[in-house]
Amino acid sequence: MSQTENPARPAVRILRFDRVQRIAHWANAALFGILMATALPLYFGSLSTVVGRRHLVAEIHLWAGIALPVPIIGSLIGPWGARLRRDVRRIDLWTRDEIRWLRNLGSTTPMLDKYNPGQKLNAIFTAGAVVVMLATGSVMQWFGLFPLTWRTGATFVHDAVAFAVFVVVFTRP
Ligand code: HEM
Repeated sequence: MSQTENPARPAVRILRFDRVQRIAHWANAALFGILMATALPLYFGSLSTVVGRRHLVAEIHLWAGIALPVPIIGSLIGPWGARLRRDVRRIDLWTRDEIRWLRNLGSTTPMLDKYNPGQKLNAIFTAGAVVVMLATGSVMQWFGLFPLTWRTGATFVHDAVAFAVFVVVFTRP
């Protein structure tokens, strides 16, 4: 019998995420959604012909990309970000148990805190992807400022991380 079904014990509501965290989460998810949707016609020329207005699609992609760090940074700074900062410290902390879980590719059962190691990995991947996509996307946009090798490398990394983002979003273990 769960705690909520037990008449002897009153139900306790646990605040897992506050309003700031929820807004940051959904704003981030929406921006990722826009970036992924606009990425497809940018990458697949045939799709671009069907969708049309490639320039507009590229503009939406660029501005959604530039906005990508805003929800994260905006919700981390200031007094309103205390709970999110505490969660970032939780994600940053890996116990021996969790490292063993990682080494054994998930076959052990670690003692769990608020986040399990898979959720921590997902958060780290998302934060890393934001930084890498912003950096490589900027080189692709303001290509005149960079040598040719940088542009080629940035496009390759942007595409590779984009592929990883699609895999992580659309596959479940
Ligand atoms: C979820 C994140 C993102 C995904 C999945 C994604 C994916 C892609 C893909 C697949 C392309 C096509 C590349 C090619 O033609 O080989 C592209 C182009 C581009 N992306 Fe992103 N991207 C993301 C984030 C960003 C961010 C943060 C920026 C920030 C500046 C950005 C800026 C650009 C630019 C400038 C282009 C070139 C557009 C054009 O061809 O006119 N992207 N992106």
